[in-house]
Amino acid sequence: MLTVVGMGPASLALMTPMALEAVSHADVLVGGKRHLAQFPDFAGELHALDANIPGLMRWIAAQQNRRVVVLASGDPLFYGIGKRLVAEFGIEKVRIIPGISAVQYLCSKTGIDMNDIWLTSSHGRAVDFDALVRSPKTAMVTDAHCGPREIAAALVARGAGNRWIVVGENLAMENERIHWLKAHEVSAQYAMNVVVILNER
Ligand SMILES: C[S@@+](CC[C@H](N)C(=O)[O-])C[C@H]1O[C@@H](n2cnc3c(N)ncnc32)[C@H](O)[C@@H]1O
Repeated sequence: MLTVVGMGPASLALMTPMALEAVSHADVLVGGKRHLAQFPDFAGELHALDANIPGLMRWIAAQQNRRVVVLASGDPLFYGIGKRLVAEFGIEKVRIIPGISAVQYLCSKTGIDMNDIWLTSSHGRAVDFDALVRSPKTAMVTDAHCGPREIAAALVARGAGNRWIVVGENLAMENERIHWLKAHEVSAQYAMNVVVILNER
């Protein structure tokens, strides 16, 4: 049985009871080091995720009759490993337990409603900045190559320097920071973050 659980943005307090129960019944937990470290009392096997996703798929396929639980940050189907697992094994073989995405968490902390929001990612992909300028409200998961500074520079270059960029950094962690900035004010580098880009505050 293969289960993918959403971990939420960081804190175990933000995982659902169903996700925590799946972890407690697992034979093996699969996840990044940061996620596995959240379960120091887990008595089963730990399998650390690395960049070799095809290898992971082969390894999971070989775990017949074991309860494998894959830990995914935020929500597994929002730019997470859930999509790949469903494509590989089919939804009838994969149980997905949703989680609170970092974007949902940032919206809840800032009171930004998610109605009509364009949900996208700069994580390992080329961003369509022209579409970003056309969108009145966008939320984006980012990576080290394209974060708030690069997004802001692209907006400024397209005459949209007055847009708000809300940066949610290290969400749900002790060093969480949320910054409201106009695009033309963004110059710093931020730790792990998501952004919401808005026409109006
Ligand atoms: C591969 S994506 C996964 C997104 C995740 N599935 C979700 O629903 O939030 C990883 C990105 O999520 C964002 N992220 C995840 N956890 C975060 C947190 N605690 N604080 C800020 N951003 C976070 C960052 O943009 C990070 O680069």
